Amino acid sequence: LRLGVLISGSGTNLQAIIDACENGRLRAAEIALVVSNVAGALGLQRALKHHLPAIYLPWRGREESEQRLAALLELFRVDLVVLAGWMRILSADFLARFPRRVINLHPALLPDDPSANVYIASDGSHIPAFRGLHAVRQALEAGVKLTGSTVHYVTPAVDAGPVLCRAEVPIQEGDSEETLHERVKAVEHSLVIEAIERWRARELLPQR
Ligand code: GRF
Repeated sequence: LRLGVLISGSGTNLQAIIDACENGRLRAAEIALVVSNVAGALGLQRALKHHLPAIYLPWRGREESEQRLAALLELFRVDLVVLAGWMRILSADFLARFPRRVINLHPALLPDDPSANVYIASDGSHIPAFRGLHAVRQALEAGVKLTGSTVHYVTPAVDAGPVLCRAEVPIQEGDSEETLHERVKAVEHSLVIEAIERWRARELLPQR
């Protein structure tokens, strides 16, 4: 399974994928390419440290940038694209070139039904579906007791594709956006591996 990991920042989830490929937790999988739209992203250094191909792709105009990104992913024969902290919206045209082959990590609990605006948690509580850029902050501000992370297929509707898996994270008294996001990320590091395995099982890719 050849993975393309797209990042814009610290890349702790990228690191989790690198580690899982190296220690065998993710079998028959390798990172074929890491792409960042941010020049100084720490994730690029993580990739280079592990001798992985890593590219900074300046994002100058969506159409042209997406053409370049698609060409790179094809050149490196990527089977599955993982958006791990990637901060650019991908167009329907781009996604059509990689049908069911792009998944995203979102730091909030999203419902199975993409048109629903509430997720019903394991304890029965109703959690609003915080989509978009500031999901961790929104959960804090809403005063809910639970948040978490969701891995879903990427579709043209932002943060609304079919869900692969999710994990809940309790919000603690005194949590700030930073402390809460740290705990969400800690959970994401195993969730992203589970998501890749589920994707592989579901899409019936032969294991190489
Ligand atoms: C994660 O919390 C992910 O859900 C969100 O961006 C964050 C990326 O963190 N989309 P990192 O760069 O993997 O550390």
